[in-house]
Amino acid sequence: MQQNGKLRFAQWLLVVVLSWHVFDVSVGHPVKGDVRLDSVDMESCVPHARALLWNMTEALQHDNLFGGINCTEQTAEMNSGTQTESACEPNPRQDASCRGQRNTKFDKTECLKNIELDTQYYRSALLAYSDRSLGSRLVKTIDDFTEHCFPAREDSSVIEVSPATGNTFEGRLKLCKAMKGLRVRAITINRVMSYIAAGDYEM
Ligand SMILES: *[C@@H]1O[C@H](CO)[C@@H](O)[C@H](O)[C@H]1NC(C)=O
Ligand SMILES: *[C@@H]1O[C@H](CO)[C@@H](O)[C@H](O)[C@H]1NC(C)=O
Repeated sequence: MQQNGKLRFAQWLLVVVLSWHVFDVSVGHPVKGDVRLDSVDMESCVPHARALLWNMTEALQHDNLFGGINCTEQTAEMNSGTQTESACEPNPRQDASCRGQRNTKFDKTECLKNIELDTQYYRSALLAYSDRSLGSRLVKTIDDFTEHCFPAREDSSVIEVSPATGNTFEGRLKLCKAMKGLRVRAITINRVMSYIAAGDYEM
């Protein structure tokens, strides 16, 4: 992984992150309209997908967030309600010479739909299990991403969540697993958004 190269950036990022003030997060607005995934401007989306990955990576390096839980040893919690990995598999026709390849076309809309659902899923998980200030910061990163990558969704606060149910062991464990899950998903998202931005699959 290119983690080493990003470490320096992550350190710089830490300064940025620490200098944030607490954002006011508003939750509980209703769903608005349909999402027109085809109109996504990938050029403006990609940097925000990258920021999501970097910011999540950085946040996970703060052991003290999890109060005695070694988050490194925990498994990531993936959203069981989506099929993002298979929906976002790159166009196998490019490897048509390999035997046993499926001959399906990369379905951008389906892939982006899964990504969007994942994003909402982790957004509410982070809000539910982190304290107010951390939750606001992480949610801001997710909302920045949503705003630029899914601009048709005017209001990203779709899922009603009651923030921070208290600083329990169980809550910190869930926070750790959800943050790891989002980081894993953010890696997929970065691959996919770059892939879509390059436009190769449209041939
Ligand atoms: C957490 O676990 C990892 C992997 O087992 C280990 O390398 C690391 O030293 C542990 N960190 C702490 C703070 O115990
Ligand atoms: C995330 O990282 C980017 C740098 O890529 C930074 O500009 C931004 O403030 C960070 N936080 C959020 C909420 O996006």
